[in-house]
Amino acid sequence: MEKSTQTIAALLQEERTFPPPKAFQQQAWVNDPKIYEQAAKNPEAFWAKAAEELDWFKRWEKVLEWNPPWAKWFIGGKLNASYNCIDRHLKTWRRNKAAIIWEGEPGDERVLTYQDLHREVSKFANVLKKLGVKKGDRVAIYMPMIPELPIALLACARIGAVHSVVFGGFSAEALRDRINDAQAKLLITADGGWRRGQVVPLKKNADEALKQTPSIQNTVVVRRVGDPSVTLGQNQYWWHELMRDAPLECPPEPMDSEDMLFILYTSGTTGKPKGVVHTTGGYLVGVTLTHKWIFDIKDEDVFFCTADIGWVTGHSYIVYGPLANGTTVVMFEGVPDYPDKDRFWAIVEKYRATILYTAPTAIRTFMRWGEEYPKRHDLSSLRLLGSVGEPINPEAWIWYYKVIGGERCPIVDTWWQTETGHILITPLPGISTLKPASANKPFPGIEAKVVDEAGNPISPGAGAGYLVITKPWPGMLRTLYNDPERYKQAYWSKFPGVYLTGDGCKIDKDGDFWLLGRIDDVLNVSGHRISTMEVESALVDHQAVAEAAVIGKSHDVKGQAVSAFVTLRAGYKPSSELADELKKHVAKKIGAIARPDDIFFTAELPKTRSGKIMRRLLRDIAEGRALGDTTTLADPTVIAQLKSQYESSES
Ligand code: WT7
Repeated sequence: MEKSTQTIAALLQEERTFPPPKAFQQQAWVNDPKIYEQAAKNPEAFWAKAAEELDWFKRWEKVLEWNPPWAKWFIGGKLNASYNCIDRHLKTWRRNKAAIIWEGEPGDERVLTYQDLHREVSKFANVLKKLGVKKGDRVAIYMPMIPELPIALLACARIGAVHSVVFGGFSAEALRDRINDAQAKLLITADGGWRRGQVVPLKKNADEALKQTPSIQNTVVVRRVGDPSVTLGQNQYWWHELMRDAPLECPPEPMDSEDMLFILYTSGTTGKPKGVVHTTGGYLVGVTLTHKWIFDIKDEDVFFCTADIGWVTGHSYIVYGPLANGTTVVMFEGVPDYPDKDRFWAIVEKYRATILYTAPTAIRTFMRWGEEYPKRHDLSSLRLLGSVGEPINPEAWIWYYKVIGGERCPIVDTWWQTETGHILITPLPGISTLKPASANKPFPGIEAKVVDEAGNPISPGAGAGYLVITKPWPGMLRTLYNDPERYKQAYWSKFPGVYLTGDGCKIDKDGDFWLLGRIDDVLNVSGHRISTMEVESALVDHQAVAEAAVIGKSHDVKGQAVSAFVTLRAGYKPSSELADELKKHVAKKIGAIARPDDIFFTAELPKTRSGKIMRRLLRDIAEGRALGDTTTLADPTVIAQLKSQYESSES
């Protein structure tokens, strides 16, 4: 460990760069850097050309209508996402190409060709219709990573229903709130999912949520784990029974380009999750082109994206982008360390994956486990690697490059968000000179800047500021579901007419972007967005808690860990049992991903005179740094006491 840290420090001093390998460049879709200038000259023409690669039932009349902050793309155009992901390939040799190669956690396998996918999606679309789901209705999906999950998404898209996927690791309460916000009519779930040999009780959680979700009329349950204790209640049906006599044909609904395709909830700076709304035409154009160019997708590729479809990465780069491009994707139900710590590498070897797209938190975990696990397998099929979810530190980048990529594969460090729909800042592997930990440049047709507090651009090499996107892009969120005011407020109010990402960033002299993490009250734990407010609300919900302040504490593997400062109500005493109970309480309210790593009990929290908790000072304490500016503190003695208590509890 010691040695490699020294190597990295040296590398940073050298500012090592990695130009594209000649052979890669020659065969790449994009191998002429002029594309950046061309696209910048006329972004609308650039995106219109990309839109030509999709199949439209009716061509658009106008590329873009921009009344900030309201965007419409490909106005008047009609298309269907499921048609573009499936039907159009049936007219070609791809009909019998593997669309999804799926591996379950226990090692079971299923391969669905595009023809198979067409059959399953059409049948399930008919099931949805039979259950009364109509165009525009919302369908909540709470499922493990099994083929029925993408089938459900595409079936919704086929009939014009709006899917709202809730990650299977979320709690019953989180599911309930998302169902109610979207007013979903139908819930699709499973009897359970596998996680490290144990059953995740999805149906049990769903039933708990369903006690308080009056909008749900019916529930469809996939039998995944075969748990005999799972039974059906009223208006609940087994997937396989409904599918048995579902008709094979279901014509795709011609959707307006601006019709809603899905809602996906993500954390913001308040306790209430934001329902990010994506529409059909622009989103599909954005994910299809970015997937093709950034991952340099060819028909021979086997694309392995390790994300869960419960997150936007899975929506855009397991389902819509890859399938629209007619790609073979590998989908995996399990975790990287079950049954052993070589599972991903076993999968790469077994299916000869050519492209791997994963997260920095996973890469740092693999580093800790050691090289012996990847070394057990032949990874020579890989030709390109991707990273997403948080900044990748140089040490992890170099490890990924050497140990997984064999110093042969370019790495695309892709920056984007649930809101952006598709990748916005990234290398293009055939032309970009890579720098470990830089996400390189805005994708062609995307205009991004780094600005100071007043909104003035910071010149390259001059320092860090707010990352903003200064022109609309096709896959951008259109609004927050049922909350247009919050959409304006959260993204467009700090710098009018400009999209605020919430991330800090610097641009170096070559114009390369270096992402610096969130600057708002949002944590990034293992690439997942969690709002400090959500965790605080969950803590305060417990009878023992008077007040709570949550911060992100640097963590070697997760990037950030949830750390909570808690004051107790009268009559309650700090204890490690209570701390454990509070951790469990948060996991129950939100899900295991939000469980605090540590809870620190304190008599007071540092506050401003207006009563705002100064999380910045708590972060300083937790990171063991000198305290920043304390002049606005109402009671300066609080913080000194807290600091000394915290430090003695750490040692
Ligand atoms: C936030 C968005 C986009 C899919 C996964 C996360 C961080 C994402 C990178 C990257 C540095 C990154 C940002 C962003 N992030 N990719 N390559 N380098 N930071 O989606 O949950 O909407 O989170 O993830 O902070 O704002 P999300």
